[in-house]
Amino acid sequence: MSSSHEIVEKNVGLMMVLIVIAISFGGLVEIVPLFFQKETTQPVTGMKPLTALQLEGRDIYIREGCHVCHTQMIRPLRAETERYGHYSVAGESVWEHPFLWGSKRTGPDIARVGGRYSDDWHRVHLQNPRDVVPESNMPGYPWLATTPLTGEYTSKKMQVLATLGVPYTEEDIRKAPFEVQGKTEQDALIAYLQQLGTIIKSRR
Ligand code: HEC
Repeated sequence: MSSSHEIVEKNVGLMMVLIVIAISFGGLVEIVPLFFQKETTQPVTGMKPLTALQLEGRDIYIREGCHVCHTQMIRPLRAETERYGHYSVAGESVWEHPFLWGSKRTGPDIARVGGRYSDDWHRVHLQNPRDVVPESNMPGYPWLATTPLTGEYTSKKMQVLATLGVPYTEEDIRKAPFEVQGKTEQDALIAYLQQLGTIIKSRR
């Protein structure tokens, strides 16, 4: 007499279908609630969208591939929280398009680097990292200091982010080109770095 289990065991096609159903169900149970939890969909208290200058800095960070060597994701492990500060929480990333969590750490995680160094330290470090950290293998980015921002697309970028739910006001968008005028790419990148992770750090 063949039990229903025997039927599944002897029928590879059926078994594959049933395995897929079982795994999808497990996945859905874990993933779907994340779309509805306040913790994962709402910004952390006090969070503000990036200013025009910080936003331009973020795009330079992406363009120069900083995220290839630096993660922005502190894991909830003691070794990490002791070194970098409070672990990263989902609410800090809800306005990130695309997010820059990364997966490779040639350099340290910089999710909470904001306020750790002075602007002047960053200027020297971005120009030639070895001037402040002799053993550093990070490349220098000297052109950032001499390249002015045009502000040509700043408003447009903010408009696009607004359609994705980043709460920029009409005024933010209108003023954006004036906010970046006269600034260099290095100013923008440092403005971006100096706000990283500061909301939670300041609460500790
Ligand atoms: C090839 C890998 C690499 C790339 C690309 C890179 N870095 Fe680094 N970065 C490092 C390493 C290694 C260190 C640690 C030594 C040092 O401080 O220079 C570091 C350190 C830093 C620090 C200090 C972090 C701390 O907590 O002390 C900052 C800030 C930083 N990098 C920003 C940037 C930015 C911005 C870019 C892109 C313009 C960038 N890095 C690109 C490897 C890299």
